[in-house]
Amino acid sequence: MTARTELPEWNALKALAGTDGERHLRDLFAEDEERFSRFSGEAAGLFVDYSKTRITEDVRDALLALSRACGVEARRDAMFGGTAINETEGRAVLHVALRAQEEGRHLVEGRDVLPDVRAELSRMESFCGKIHSGEHKGHTGKPLDTVVNIGIGGSDLGPVMVTEALAPYALKGRKVHFVSNVDGTHLAETLRRIDPETTLFVVASKTFTTQETMTNAHSARAWFLEQGASEDDVAKHFVALSTNEEGVREFGIDTSNMFRFWDWVGGRYSLWSAIGLPIALQIGWTNFESLLLGARGMDEHFRTAPAQENLPLLLGLIDVWHRSFLGMHAHAVLPYDQYLHRLAAYLQQADMESNGKSVTMNGTPVSYPTGAIVFGEAGTNGQHAFYQLIHQGTDVIPCDFLAPARSHNPLGDHHEKLLANFLAQPEALMRGRTEDEARAELIEGGADAAEADRLAPHKAFPGNRPTVSILTEEITPATLGALIALYEHRIFVAGAVWDINSFDQWGVELGKTLAKAILPELTGGTGGAHDASTAGLIARINASRG
Ligand code: F6P
Repeated sequence: MTARTELPEWNALKALAGTDGERHLRDLFAEDEERFSRFSGEAAGLFVDYSKTRITEDVRDALLALSRACGVEARRDAMFGGTAINETEGRAVLHVALRAQEEGRHLVEGRDVLPDVRAELSRMESFCGKIHSGEHKGHTGKPLDTVVNIGIGGSDLGPVMVTEALAPYALKGRKVHFVSNVDGTHLAETLRRIDPETTLFVVASKTFTTQETMTNAHSARAWFLEQGASEDDVAKHFVALSTNEEGVREFGIDTSNMFRFWDWVGGRYSLWSAIGLPIALQIGWTNFESLLLGARGMDEHFRTAPAQENLPLLLGLIDVWHRSFLGMHAHAVLPYDQYLHRLAAYLQQADMESNGKSVTMNGTPVSYPTGAIVFGEAGTNGQHAFYQLIHQGTDVIPCDFLAPARSHNPLGDHHEKLLANFLAQPEALMRGRTEDEARAELIEGGADAAEADRLAPHKAFPGNRPTVSILTEEITPATLGALIALYEHRIFVAGAVWDINSFDQWGVELGKTLAKAILPELTGGTGGAHDASTAGLIARINASRG
């Protein structure tokens, strides 16, 4: 396959980076009254305004041409069809099948996966029903009103983010806790707050071998037994979410208490599978189904909408434009909705574990920047923390601003103030303030000419900082499902253009292996050779711990 950088379409964009890519957004808006309608669109309950990104008609056309040259749509169709596009792991990538409806579309090795998906969803539904009705009781006969999800990465971040985002939909009286960190503090603090008689532990791990999760699960089980329960009681209080039946059995969870998913569900794309059980337990089955339905709406849009209107496609291409052609290193996710306060953490894994790669599908090093550093915080909190750098720092950081038009908590004029900030920040980032404008404002405010000259450079904003605004009427299970799917597909598109495998994660392996090798050295044993720094730190820790 031709290297990306040798494609004429790639080089056309490189040329455009020096012309259109340098244009100031202020000028682009001044020149074109239609810019907002030209560069915005709607799908699955989300309105997306990308008119404040650094694109022009020519750039959009060139990006779409690059997408065609890179075979993005063909790769999308291969993903939906069940081809093993995760080549380094030899797996299909079929999270879309978890929320699909149409039979015969998603085939793994010629076999439709939908019947299995439906069967597992129906087991989950029935289990939720039994927990909610109190039919499934704990060992002392009490209903289980509390869930402790033990998992990490994709077996934690999605369920945490969604249960927080949909807190207004939580069933009355239900409580959910998430334990992920191997730091004993995480589990210990959680155990202090729960009642073993009314708690269901959900051990969530695709592989059922992850050190953190297994350690926490074993400790939780030991604690449960210490509280007076017997081995036989474990079955009533522990369920597993996994692809690894043998691992679940070995841990001591009866496989009839196991909810399955499949190797074609990537960890960071798994909240729609059995991994979503804690979500369904918290918000109820109907709401969980609405979440899937919302995602399906976005899937359909991504699969069928013409390229010019296809929002995940366009946003993924704009990400490539900003990152690979305009050299922007980071990407901020800024939800103006307190319930979405874990969205950035969730997207850090979704995006950075997917696109933080530096070799192409065939193993050759890429010669262009790929995945950006993702970070963020709920607005308006971030404004009082890191926005200074976004407005006036030396790096240009594209930002996503997200907001619901309606709040679940319409308290006084809070939401109007929140929305005013949601609108003002992208406007400020786009327009900026020239030094002349800053000087004029200072003079108007009573400063003398010398003072205005001295302060104006500090009060000037370069502007031309790209933002995408994503607006929805309200954060509901359906609009949230659509939003997550929008990001999933956008990440897919960027990865496909970069010719990297967005679905493996070899980069997390080395650290895990070394941690396993070091562990004995912290528990009185001996270990391998280390660099002087690591050896010095080990010696120091051991000395401190006596
Ligand atoms: O951090 C690496 C990783 O493999 C993630 O991709 C995954 O989501 C997480 O660990 C947890 O894995 P598992 O669900 O197998 O415990």
